Amino acid sequence: MSSSAPHENKLSSDPPPLNAPPDLGTSSATNTGSKAREQHIDPLNVSGAIDENGNTLAIDYDALREKFGTPALTSAHLERFERVTGKKPHRLMRRKLFFSHRDFDSILDFYEKEGRFLLYTGRGPSSDSMHIGHAVPFLFTKELQDIFDVPLVIMMTDDEKFQFRGAEKKMDPRLFTQFAHANTKDIIALGFDVKKTFIYTDYEFIGGHFLYNISEFETLLTNNQVRGAMGFDGSTNIGCNSYPARQCVAAFASSYPELFGAPDYRPLTNPDFCELFPRQNIADIPTLIPCAIDQEPYFRLVRENCHRMHFPSPKPALILSRFLTALQGPGGKMSASDPTSAIFMSDTPNQIKNKINKYAFSGGRETREEHEKYGGNPDVDVAYTYLSYFLESDEELKEIEDAYRKGTLGTGELKKKCISVLQEFVGAFQERRAKVDDAAMRSFMKPRKLVFQGNPHATHPRGAEAANGEAQAHGEGAEDGKGLTKNQQKKLAKLKEVEERKAKKAQEKEMALRQKEGGADGAVEGGGA
Ligand code: TRP
Repeated sequence: MSSSAPHENKLSSDPPPLNAPPDLGTSSATNTGSKAREQHIDPLNVSGAIDENGNTLAIDYDALREKFGTPALTSAHLERFERVTGKKPHRLMRRKLFFSHRDFDSILDFYEKEGRFLLYTGRGPSSDSMHIGHAVPFLFTKELQDIFDVPLVIMMTDDEKFQFRGAEKKMDPRLFTQFAHANTKDIIALGFDVKKTFIYTDYEFIGGHFLYNISEFETLLTNNQVRGAMGFDGSTNIGCNSYPARQCVAAFASSYPELFGAPDYRPLTNPDFCELFPRQNIADIPTLIPCAIDQEPYFRLVRENCHRMHFPSPKPALILSRFLTALQGPGGKMSASDPTSAIFMSDTPNQIKNKINKYAFSGGRETREEHEKYGGNPDVDVAYTYLSYFLESDEELKEIEDAYRKGTLGTGELKKKCISVLQEFVGAFQERRAKVDDAAMRSFMKPRKLVFQGNPHATHPRGAEAANGEAQAHGEGAEDGKGLTKNQQKKLAKLKEVEERKAKKAQEKEMALRQKEGGADGAVEGGGA
């Protein structure tokens, strides 16, 4: 296949009106008499709508926002981001590829005031290779971490992928931990700072305070709520039903007290010290979750229920992205199980070139003459779409868009540009990846106090020490739980007493509430939080 093949996968041969946008026709898809089907997006499935003729349509993100009830990320947010951080927002945000949010304003408020928050994201390791679509939320998260200078946790959900995908195929759950390790190395190679990043796999890490949170949160969710959010039914295995609580409480800072300098109570990690109750000042640290919008149903569950915990955390804020389009075009997302749908982070320069030339859906015209006459459509063009994710310069992207619409830039040239940008991105990644060995991976996976400064201009900072959520409760010296003075031990005992009393009160309140509700638990449909 030549590198300038303009004849692949073009639009219909009848030229539509100049610059016609793709038909998003979700309304026609409600016609139940035909093959038509509405788009469907939840954490387990992402599929575009199907029209009467069986064609997959582009995902309608506005309709999705409406269904989920998540506000749009606006230019006002971008301006505020720049004012608060002094930095230009990431290109993915400038181009509204991160396009929706919940409480993004509140997290900026908090950062302006107290100067810190927790970043949380994750990845379901379904195979040992990641594609460029998987890298997108991590690229974005890394920049947020750099700009805000805040701690980050990355959850590798080997348990989720086993329960949702592997169990059916009778795969060994341990395989998924292996995938998680390979993916963790890929993620590290995207450039995260080990001093402020903690990465874990669920099977390896969950226990301690995290497990208490899971156990407690499980009791706050009903089968109906989980089914409503996730699309399960009575025949779904119970592992799938219980998993969402894990992804939810992973958003609580109180699941990881050790990252904020409070010792874990577990004898394996801390044989000499036992701090059984988490600290409310750690639970109080708010969280921002960058993720693709298919994860929203999980976080709806946590936002609706977090205030009911004994050590409640604030509602996590979300910043939500689109999916990176499959090579075949809008309507599908890249899939690791379909190699022709995706560019992998392990692809060679030649593979990248061949895949783009052969498979990337083109918004160009049938022939060069038609293309020059009518112009192409970048809105559905996959090479253009990938450039909008990976090309840094706004000016250059705009020039490319304009020239393509006018028809002065051909499909072959557009693909060529896309190929070189992706080859450069993937090549630089592979160089860094070659240096990430097991020891480097384990250094990210060690639970330890993270080091971060947060906002140097916070109006009510907690102080350098307390910025880590710590100290305040127990005074200096409590970091590793050893060497506490008598006074500090006394304080600690007092604190525990207070917390126990508080917990008891909360429990009583909740019991009363439960009795009043009398088990009326409706399924959760969109909107919610
Ligand atoms: N469920 C996600 C997946 O399948 C993994 C995940 C866990 C995640 N926690 C998250 C993704 C937080 C984004 C944010 O990939």
